[in-house]
Amino acid sequence: MSTLHIIDHPLIQHKLSYMRKKETGPKDFRQLLDEISMLMGYEVTRDFPTKEVEIETPICKTTVNIIAGKKVAIVPILRAGLGMVDGLLSLVPVAKVGHIGLYRDPETHKPVEYYCKLPNDIEDRVVIVVDPMLATGGSSADAITKLKEHGCKNIRLMCLVSAPEGIKKVQAEHPDVDIYTAAVDEKLNENAYIVPGLGDAGDRLYGTK
Ligand code: PRP
Ligand code: URA
Repeated sequence: MSTLHIIDHPLIQHKLSYMRKKETGPKDFRQLLDEISMLMGYEVTRDFPTKEVEIETPICKTTVNIIAGKKVAIVPILRAGLGMVDGLLSLVPVAKVGHIGLYRDPETHKPVEYYCKLPNDIEDRVVIVVDPMLATGGSSADAITKLKEHGCKNIRLMCLVSAPEGIKKVQAEHPDVDIYTAAVDEKLNENAYIVPGLGDAGDRLYGTK
């Protein structure tokens, strides 16, 4: 069964509070999302296995631990997921990056795919799907389905703000995928926006609208 990890470190809560404020402009919004993504990445990678290797320090030989196991792919859901890539790449610089483009139909709120480009060895990698908003869960659930169609078996989802409805949908459709989020908000409104949320993440990141 999928585990929900709520990463509510004080630094993350503090930065997220500024992102939620409507006065925060795109430059600060982008920077805060970048910083939070790096902090969340620390927890998202916590269970990565390590292995012992022998090295020699300037003083003596010793045994140390390095990361073992599978390589990583980061997959942002366009557009807003792009804002979470660099923070993770600063922790895992050799990760490959795939892109899945989805937009929500304004009437039905259902995701529509318009782009997909993934590393050709993605099925052999631990995949971290990133999107700041988990609202109805349609976009994340569809992106994960697409990744499974490409053979991915080890997938985790990292979101900034989640609604209970979105968590429920992803867990029901993908019980093998752990969800990492900085906040679980109250509900969705009639337009399927998260309440209190932070508005439209893509528009706030890129200054559109
Ligand atoms: C937003 C957000 C998610 C999606 C979440 O993207 O970045 O991808 O909505 O909603 P859901 O959980 O109900 O599917 P949007 O469709 O606004 O596209 P954008 O990132 O290009 O602005
Ligand atoms: N997409 C967003 O950007 N924000 C929401 O609150 C819901 C979907």
